[in-house]
Amino acid sequence: MAEFTLPKNSKIKGGQKHPSPQPGGTMRNFKVYRYDPDSGENPRYDTFEVNLDECGPMVLDALIKIKSEQDPSLTFRRSCREGICGSCSMNIDGRNGLACTTAIEDVKGEIKITPLPAMDVIKDLVPDFTRFYAQYASITPWLQTVTPPPAGKERLQSPEERAKLDGLYECILCACCSTSCPSYWWNSDKFLGPAILLQAYRWLADSRDEMTGERLDALEDPFRLYRCHTIMNCANTCPKGLSPAKAIAEIKKMEVERLV
Ligand code: SF4
Ligand code: SF4
Ligand code: FES
Repeated sequence: MAEFTLPKNSKIKGGQKHPSPQPGGTMRNFKVYRYDPDSGENPRYDTFEVNLDECGPMVLDALIKIKSEQDPSLTFRRSCREGICGSCSMNIDGRNGLACTTAIEDVKGEIKITPLPAMDVIKDLVPDFTRFYAQYASITPWLQTVTPPPAGKERLQSPEERAKLDGLYECILCACCSTSCPSYWWNSDKFLGPAILLQAYRWLADSRDEMTGERLDALEDPFRLYRCHTIMNCANTCPKGLSPAKAIAEIKKMEVERLV
């Protein structure tokens, strides 16, 4: 599996050590990025000792335990604890992933946890998704039609048409892929990135949508679409097993095919 370098904050040292309140068990250290812009202090790494005999199996379980028992000011997002909401995406041991579906036993040694790379940090492990969501809104992620629906009926799809959305609709917008993409690191103000492009293809592939030409027009741009250089970090990272790179290739194919 690929590991990714952290373009921001990778040389930060220091921080506080927090011993476990339950000594004597199977201990692991969690080295966690801390940053509070309101404090005026530099970012740091705090080390929390966690008794795994008293902890659930996932990295998110450890973070919740740390917040409950050692430092209530530790800030991170989470909701479903089932890999569905996409809230707990972060960088764990050099790899983007979901804290709720990453098993502690799958990470060796001290577990280093940082926010998703290449995004501004609001606090601790909480990145600022403002640009990401604005990019998502820019691809108009909803069904658009010009013809009226059949009287009294839904717009139907055949099983084959519906199957074309498999591998796309499952995206939980966690941004693990976009923030592991070197092209997105360097051009996130102009390149839409793998997550948003996969979402764009989800509507291009939908047999019910009638705005295909307009959607392709909006994507045909040297930066928005074509900054993908098929490095494939996105597909290697996605915690849902999706391939944004494949979706991007399909969009490029559609752009070419409509010219012939
Ligand atoms: S395949 Fe494209 S979108 Fe995916 S990581 Fe590489 S450059 Fe980024
Ligand atoms: S494609 Fe995968 S990694 Fe990217 S946002 Fe969707 S679920 Fe997350
Ligand atoms: S808490 Fe919802 S995906 Fe992890």
